[in-house]
Amino acid sequence: MIQCRSAERIRAPAIVRLGQDRAPSMRNFDETTITEAVLGRLTGASDPRIMEISAALVRHLHAFVSEVRPTVAEWQAGIAFLTETGRMCSDTRQEFVLLSDTLGVSMLVDAINHSTRGTTESTVLGPFYVEGAPTMFNGDDISAGLAGEPLIVTGSVRGGDGAPVAGALVDVWHSDGGGFYDVQQLDRAGGLAMRARLVTGVDGGFRFWTIKPAAYPVPHDGPVGRMLQKQGRHPWRPAHVHFMIQAAGYAQLITHIFAEGDPYLNSDVVFGVKDSLIRPFVAMAAGAAPDGSDRSSGFFHLHYDFALERDPECRQADLKVAAR
Ligand SMILES: [Fe+2]
Repeated sequence: MIQCRSAERIRAPAIVRLGQDRAPSMRNFDETTITEAVLGRLTGASDPRIMEISAALVRHLHAFVSEVRPTVAEWQAGIAFLTETGRMCSDTRQEFVLLSDTLGVSMLVDAINHSTRGTTESTVLGPFYVEGAPTMFNGDDISAGLAGEPLIVTGSVRGGDGAPVAGALVDVWHSDGGGFYDVQQLDRAGGLAMRARLVTGVDGGFRFWTIKPAAYPVPHDGPVGRMLQKQGRHPWRPAHVHFMIQAAGYAQLITHIFAEGDPYLNSDVVFGVKDSLIRPFVAMAAGAAPDGSDRSSGFFHLHYDFALERDPECRQADLKVAAR
């Protein structure tokens, strides 16, 4: 008997027994008691935020399962779906971001965290952002020689008061005229293309040449694509250019500028379109371009003036790229 009590102490240390004692029931859980039992196991969490998030996750996940009442086969299919979503992720593809985007969760997080008080509206980051894009000079061509319709993008970065923000880091990326990003065609692009980091001048301005992007379907050859198909949804996004803008003393801005007139503006698969972010890609005849160059053939022009929100904590952005 003494030996048995000793073994029991080893298997169940005091701290574990304490947590279990707080639960309304130690065993024999059923549909009516399992949720409270799991919540009771969370009382040992040392971080209040971890406790809050964990408890909400358990409550809502259990409520979801109670509402859906899945068969065991359906539950296993759900586990297999999430497993495949994880396996689909790589350095150049983020299936979980895609899942979050297409379920509207990314835009919900964005809406919770960003106000629209007189500054440029934000939208989703999307799955094609790549850290470490090449640094370019204002006026450079960022297309890396890919074929397409020439496009010049001009704009400025200002504070909410309209004052120009010099030295802001402007990270841009977009698809080609076929709707493909560089990372989806590295053999053709020969590396990173249609993406760059530029720095605004003393007037807050920036400009670059590239090729005109097109509407594109998000990658739909994986689990998220099958989900969309079964939900009766198309996978398309309207044509756009991505921007991530950082400047000391201002909140980081992640947004897109969408092409006016695109047929998918009202049904963007990731719910990212806002009216204030739509601008025309203006067709221009051969001749003088907005950057002062002389063009021998026609081109398109996109312009946008961004307004940054002051960072309430005046956090210094990590700007390691020298102003150019
Ligand atoms: Fe995109």
